[in-house]
Amino acid sequence: MTEIAPAKTEPIKTAEELAAAPEEFRTAIRKIVRSHAVNELYGAQVFDEPAIALAPNPYAKWLTCRVAMEEYGHHVRFRELGEQIGIPMAEMTPSGKRPLSIFEFPLKTWEEFCVIKLLADLAEILQVEDLLHCAFHPLRNLARMTMPEERFHAQFGKDFCTELCATEEGRQRVQDAIDRYFPMLPAFFGGSRSANNEIFRKWGIKQRTNDDMRADFLQRARALVEDHLKLKLPEAKAAA
Ligand SMILES: [Fe+2]
Ligand SMILES: [Fe+2]
Repeated sequence: MTEIAPAKTEPIKTAEELAAAPEEFRTAIRKIVRSHAVNELYGAQVFDEPAIALAPNPYAKWLTCRVAMEEYGHHVRFRELGEQIGIPMAEMTPSGKRPLSIFEFPLKTWEEFCVIKLLADLAEILQVEDLLHCAFHPLRNLARMTMPEERFHAQFGKDFCTELCATEEGRQRVQDAIDRYFPMLPAFFGGSRSANNEIFRKWGIKQRTNDDMRADFLQRARALVEDHLKLKLPEAKAAA
């Protein structure tokens, strides 16, 4: 376990107060807000909205619509905060800043979508958890607001994967999707010697190292895939 670095600044309670914060702190906050704004939007566009058409029945479509609505909502909230702290609008869209590689997976089936919610939204929960005590309170509050929805998305993935695994054919399709999607996820937590992560911890913006988060993720993913679904988690490559 990594020691939690004490925040080197008093908590910053409003977006307006951020202007008076040290440059390194402001840059770090802008990086996180920009990244969430871009990736929540891109994920909704390439995974959640197209999944409505893949959902096999009206009940599944209804819940998938809710997931898509909430993911677009996350973008809207982060973008609004971004505007308040002076991030140019163009930088908060996938055309202005490159989205994360986890979205490069070409979604084609309902099983793949359920696995993405099971595992990628678990990864997102870990990221949001790390912001729950963030020294910049508008970001901490956004994380607290977003968390119940991310938990719902991960639960959605768990419930539908469980249902799919009731038949042998379904189990094979879920396992196949895990085999192809899971290897993209460990890199989502960033490099082991990330300079950004060091700055985030220095200022009390984030709590944990990328490696701590990755290890926690692997443990929680293994519990879901192996203990709960009784499937196999592929070997994870160590990060650089
Ligand atoms: Fe989200
Ligand atoms: Fe989500």
